[in-house]
Amino acid sequence: MTTSPTGHDDAGHPAAPTSAGAPARPATPWASITACPDGPLLVRGDVEILGPDGTPAPRQRPTVALCRCGASGIKPFCDGSHKVVGFRTDDEDL
Ligand code: FES
Repeated sequence: MTTSPTGHDDAGHPAAPTSAGAPARPATPWASITACPDGPLLVRGDVEILGPDGTPAPRQRPTVALCRCGASGIKPFCDGSHKVVGFRTDDEDL
Protein backbone atom coordinates (compact mmCIF):
# COMPACT_ATOMS: atom_id res chain seq x y z
CA MET A 1 0.00 0.00 0.00
CA THR A 2 1.28 3.45 -0.80
CA THR A 3 0.68 6.74 0.93
CA SER A 4 0.06 9.98 -0.91
CA PRO A 5 1.77 13.28 -0.10
CA THR A 6 -1.52 14.35 1.48
CA GLY A 7 -1.14 11.64 4.12
CA HIS A 8 -3.81 9.32 2.79
CA ASP A 9 -3.45 5.75 1.64
CA ASP A 10 -4.62 4.33 -1.73
CA ALA A 11 -8.16 4.03 -0.41
CA GLY A 12 -8.25 7.62 0.84
CA HIS A 13 -7.93 6.76 4.51
CA PRO A 14 -5.74 8.95 6.74
CA ALA A 15 -2.32 7.49 7.38
CA ALA A 16 -0.59 7.28 10.75
CA PRO A 17 2.78 9.00 11.13
CA THR A 18 5.94 6.94 11.40
CA SER A 19 8.60 7.55 14.01
CA ALA A 20 10.25 9.83 11.41
CA GLY A 21 7.01 11.82 11.12
CA ALA A 22 6.12 10.63 7.61
CA PRO A 23 2.77 8.91 7.06
CA ALA A 24 3.29 5.20 6.40
CA ARG A 25 0.20 3.13 7.13
CA PRO A 26 -3.52 3.67 7.59
CA ALA A 27 -4.49 5.07 10.98
CA THR A 28 -7.68 3.08 10.75
CA PRO A 29 -7.14 -0.41 9.33
CA TRP A 30 -10.67 -0.82 8.09
CA ALA A 31 -12.18 -1.54 4.75
CA SER A 32 -15.26 -0.14 3.12
CA ILE A 33 -17.84 -1.47 0.70
CA THR A 34 -19.78 0.91 -1.49
CA ALA A 35 -22.88 -0.22 -3.35
CA CYS A 36 -22.87 1.43 -6.75
CA PRO A 37 -26.31 2.24 -8.13
CA ASP A 38 -27.13 -0.25 -10.90
CA GLY A 39 -23.64 -1.71 -10.57
CA PRO A 40 -21.06 -3.56 -8.50
CA LEU A 41 -19.93 -3.40 -4.90
CA LEU A 42 -16.70 -1.43 -4.60
CA VAL A 43 -14.42 -2.91 -1.95
CA ARG A 44 -11.71 -0.62 -0.64
CA GLY A 45 -9.15 -1.61 1.91
CA ASP A 46 -7.20 -4.57 3.11
CA VAL A 47 -9.58 -7.53 2.90
CA GLU A 48 -9.13 -11.02 1.55
CA ILE A 49 -11.67 -12.19 -1.03
CA LEU A 50 -12.23 -15.94 -1.00
CA GLY A 51 -13.92 -18.18 -3.55
CA PRO A 52 -16.54 -20.81 -2.61
CA ASP A 53 -13.78 -23.34 -1.86
CA GLY A 54 -11.85 -20.88 0.29
CA THR A 55 -9.24 -20.13 -2.35
CA PRO A 56 -8.18 -16.47 -2.29
CA ALA A 57 -9.29 -14.58 -5.38
CA PRO A 58 -6.36 -12.81 -7.05
CA ARG A 59 -6.37 -9.16 -6.19
CA GLN A 60 -4.01 -6.65 -7.74
CA ARG A 61 -5.58 -3.33 -6.80
CA PRO A 62 -6.47 -1.64 -3.52
CA THR A 63 -10.02 -1.14 -4.79
CA VAL A 64 -11.94 -3.92 -6.53
CA ALA A 65 -15.46 -4.17 -7.94
CA LEU A 66 -17.46 -7.26 -7.01
CA CYS A 67 -20.31 -8.37 -9.25
CA ARG A 68 -23.78 -8.35 -7.76
CA CYS A 69 -25.77 -8.75 -10.96
CA GLY A 70 -24.68 -12.34 -11.61
CA ALA A 71 -23.74 -11.72 -15.25
CA SER A 72 -19.98 -11.20 -14.95
CA GLY A 73 -17.71 -13.55 -16.83
CA ILE A 74 -14.94 -13.02 -14.28
CA LYS A 75 -16.78 -13.60 -10.99
CA PRO A 76 -16.42 -12.62 -8.28
CA PHE A 77 -15.27 -9.45 -10.05
CA CYS A 78 -17.38 -7.11 -12.16
CA ASP A 79 -16.57 -7.01 -15.87
CA GLY A 80 -19.13 -4.38 -16.82
CA SER A 81 -21.76 -6.91 -17.94
CA HIS A 82 -24.28 -5.31 -15.58
CA LYS A 83 -24.72 -2.58 -18.20
CA VAL A 84 -25.36 -5.11 -20.97
CA VAL A 85 -28.01 -6.99 -18.97
CA GLY A 86 -29.66 -3.81 -17.70
CA PHE A 87 -29.08 -4.59 -14.01
CA ARG A 88 -31.01 -2.19 -11.80
CA THR A 89 -30.90 -1.60 -8.07
CA ASP A 90 -33.22 0.18 -5.74
CA ASP A 91 -31.21 3.10 -4.37
CA GLU A 92 -32.67 2.53 -0.91
CA ASP A 93 -31.45 -1.08 -0.79
CA LEU A 94 -27.83 -2.11 -0.43
S1 FES B 1 -22.17 -5.96 -11.28
FE1 FES B 1 -20.87 -5.59 -12.96
S2 FES B 1 -20.90 -7.43 -14.07
FE2 FES B 1 -22.21 -7.82 -12.40
